[in-house]
Amino acid sequence: MGEIKGLVFDLDGVITDTAERHYLAWKRIAHRLGIAIDREWNERLKGISRTESLELILAENPTLLLDSEEKAQLLKEKNAHYLELIAEITAADILPGIPELLEEAKNAGYRMAIASASKNAPLILERLGLSAMFDAVVDPESLKQNKPHPEIFEKAAQALGLETQECIGFEDSLAGIEGIKRAGMPAVAIAIPIFAEWLPDIEVTATRELNLKEIVREVTMKERVEG
Ligand code: BG6
Ligand code: MG
Repeated sequence: MGEIKGLVFDLDGVITDTAERHYLAWKRIAHRLGIAIDREWNERLKGISRTESLELILAENPTLLLDSEEKAQLLKEKNAHYLELIAEITAADILPGIPELLEEAKNAGYRMAIASASKNAPLILERLGLSAMFDAVVDPESLKQNKPHPEIFEKAAQALGLETQECIGFEDSLAGIEGIKRAGMPAVAIAIPIFAEWLPDIEVTATRELNLKEIVREVTMKERVEG
């Protein structure tokens, strides 16, 4: 592996706590459909696109047969409610430790990208005052495949002009960790309760534990040992 030159971040649940707001917006839609979801169940929605999330919720009640118009209406309502929930979001909603990490990375010359499945990512970055921090934001509409496919992470590295092995990926979802690892990037997992097949290189329980120098040192050493 070459030197680490880039950092690729998921947005929801990594840069800001919008993961919780996505959950609340989905919970309301699910409740209306007579489906109960809780935070534990919601782990499977993290990193998953809006349309696929609705399909996973609907699969909880196979007797519900909705046509494409009804589904489109639910997707619209979910996003409208989500937009209400993020209406007042400001820089104060950036997760603890993230402003310092981004500042340190910027000063150290790392190139940085956002790899989020959210179509609302540019809007959220603007409200957080972070748009200028990132050299690239991958447009999820440009993807052929969603997380857990590695495409979004490959595109992020490409947009930074780097190899995937030269970047570190930060994620709070299982789908994201799988995507990062399949892209050949070292992965940092943030607050993921249980892992499945794909394991991260580094795990923290909260963003405030992220220490950039330690992370870079650890993934570089790990690569030297494992080759
Ligand atoms: C991901 C979130 O970042 O974006 C998912 O983890 C969300 O929960 C997905 O469904 C799509 O977001 P949006 O804003 O396009 O509905
Ligand atoms: Mg996330």
